[in-house]
Amino acid sequence: MKKRPFVFLCTGMSLDGKLSNYKKECVPISSDDNRDMLYDMRVFADAAMVGGNTLELDDPGLMIKGDKRIKQRKKLNKPLDLVKVSVISNANNLKVNGDFFNRGDGEKVIFTTKETSDDKIKELRKKANVFVMGEKKVNLKKALEILYELGVKSLLVEGGGELIFSLLKDDLVDEINLKIGNLIIGGRDTTTFCDGDGFGKLFFKKVKFLEVIKKPNCLILKAKIVK
Ligand SMILES: NC(=O)c1ccc[n+]([C@@H]2O[C@H](COP(=O)([O-])OP(=O)(O)OC[C@H]3O[C@@H](n4cnc5c(N)ncnc54)[C@H](OP(=O)(O)O)[C@@H]3O)[C@@H](O)[C@H]2O)c1
Repeated sequence: MKKRPFVFLCTGMSLDGKLSNYKKECVPISSDDNRDMLYDMRVFADAAMVGGNTLELDDPGLMIKGDKRIKQRKKLNKPLDLVKVSVISNANNLKVNGDFFNRGDGEKVIFTTKETSDDKIKELRKKANVFVMGEKKVNLKKALEILYELGVKSLLVEGGGELIFSLLKDDLVDEINLKIGNLIIGGRDTTTFCDGDGFGKLFFKKVKFLEVIKKPNCLILKAKIVK
């Protein structure tokens, strides 16, 4: 069996499990809008991954923030910038002039499918290492094996809900770190922590809770997947 990185999720969700609002905007999920947990987690990762919708909507820079974290990273002997990864079935409308592609010196890796045109792949290759993996959906297991071969031993997955569902479905998640904010966002079609088609009753994923920390505006929860 080929090796894959250690995969840990770190996501912020509202009390009702939402990752954004009904307009799919990147909104605060707690009243202090504090993102320290996510920034702290990045320090320990070789690479950070986001789904294609998150890349197109939020264009995250995925940088290490603050002098303290930069020092920590140096101590860990990791390069300052993370490898940035995204999984996007159809990248034909993806813009390459934003933060994901242009901030920091870390390698960018795009996993896409044959839905993306040859011309677009050529354009993306000027900015990133591009892998075409399958007809309509990216084979995530293979994608993680490729990342391991590229030197990524620990992979932080920041969301969104579609990517998280697929990784859980394929048993590719080791640890879950959740910030549960003190806001209720609502919306029947709003992105949640785990979307996709859902799991059948016999295939629900089970977690073992490892730690819960209560803060004034959120709960920090760590869990591991029971395999
Ligand atoms: N609060 C937080 O911490 C946080 C973090 C990240 C994102 N977000 C929010 O989450 C929202 C976006 O989440 P989302 O669930 O809509 O999308 P997503 O998970 O960001 O992206 C899903 C994308 O990945 C593509 N994909 C390709 N292969 C896939 C595979 N094997 N499995 C799953 N997806 C695959 C999908 O394409 P196809 O569907 O075409 O196959 C789709 O384009 C945004 O509003 C963003 O702000 C919040």
